[in-house]
Amino acid sequence: MADLSTVFTGIRFENPFLLASAPPTESESNILRAFEAGWGGVVTKTIGLHPVVNVAGPKTKFLRADNGGTRLSMAKRPDTTLMASWNWELISDKPMDWWLPQIARIKKAFPSRIVVASIMAGSGDDKELQAWQTLAQGVQDAGADAIELNFSCPHMDRVDMGANVGKDPVLCSVSTQAVKAVAKVPVWVKLTPATANIVEEAEATFRGGADAIVSSNTWPALPPIDPDTLDFEVNVDGYVSSGGMGGPAILPLSLAKMAQMTQAFPDRPFSGIGGISDWAQALDYFLLGCGTTQVATAAMLDHAIGPNVIRNLTQGMSDFLDRHADRGWKTLDDFRGLRRDRVVAQSAIRRPDNAGYHGGYDDAEGYAAPVNNA
Ligand SMILES: Cc1cc2nc3c(=O)[nH]c(=O)nc-3n(C[C@H](O)[C@H](O)[C@H](O)COP(=O)(O)O)c2cc1C
Repeated sequence: MADLSTVFTGIRFENPFLLASAPPTESESNILRAFEAGWGGVVTKTIGLHPVVNVAGPKTKFLRADNGGTRLSMAKRPDTTLMASWNWELISDKPMDWWLPQIARIKKAFPSRIVVASIMAGSGDDKELQAWQTLAQGVQDAGADAIELNFSCPHMDRVDMGANVGKDPVLCSVSTQAVKAVAKVPVWVKLTPATANIVEEAEATFRGGADAIVSSNTWPALPPIDPDTLDFEVNVDGYVSSGGMGGPAILPLSLAKMAQMTQAFPDRPFSGIGGISDWAQALDYFLLGCGTTQVATAAMLDHAIGPNVIRNLTQGMSDFLDRHADRGWKTLDDFRGLRRDRVVAQSAIRRPDNAGYHGGYDDAEGYAAPVNNA
């Protein structure tokens, strides 16, 4: 097999494919199985210090389309294709004290595989900034190779957390700085895609000292309403709250956000997530400039930790390198970012006839000829 290894934020990965922070990485047993299956790294399910209690109902469902039909529904039925996941799961409901010995044991069992600990605290006062620092120090002392700050969960029950941090450039910068003040390992920041211009939050986050930016988390979304019962397809006592959509449907959305950031900061490290289930989709992110990629939904649907997904990803990359050996491509760095500059303004796209076309504006004079009333 070709050389799939890569160095990202100073850390060597055997391959550039990680399990994203989600149910596949919610326990030591899952993560050990994931490493046995061949994942280069994992990002743990997000760890916090505050009390976490999930809703009294299903936390995740999958939206499927009828093959050759028009029905989109989360109902289980044959002959369908996966469109998306939808979840309103909070961060890990296990406390930090439960996590730290697990991280230590995982690193002991697989010293050359990479464990990134995802953490989350609140914002707005010193107590919460200290909570970020307590979490960061705890996970790095337990042996985590890097830390991922979750500024991106779209449906936290507390308003000072998750995507609400990622929507505010000042909070992005201040919270990153607080962690960087105590971090001895690289600090990655997972930003929410649900903002007007993600480049502004990315800029603030890098200003706060982030070593890499990760995107996308799930997108704010609701489940469909059942046309017979008139209930949301996921609800508790008839009620639903906005949750997060992941999986195939978000690939193009996430690529657009990633392209904005990799163009604005071509020399910075990015980890791409959203809608990856095999090599073709991971390649999209690499061609935009990402140095690693992460997977959640596809792995959840493949024996909980994605053994077939990681096999296809590594095989796909190996075959790709073999196919392009004549171009001298030997590693990810030889093709990373090759299509970053192909995303341009609409006005810069060639028209069938460019003569007289000024990007949608009137021509240089800008005014209609004056009417002569004389
Ligand atoms: C059920 C579920 C739980 C998740 N929990 C977390 C979490 O705790 N922390 C986090 O940063 N992202 C979380 N995510 C988001 C994923 O890490 C990922 O960003 C998102 O699902 C998009 O990737 P995908 O298209 O491969 O699913 C969760 C996603 C799902 C589906």
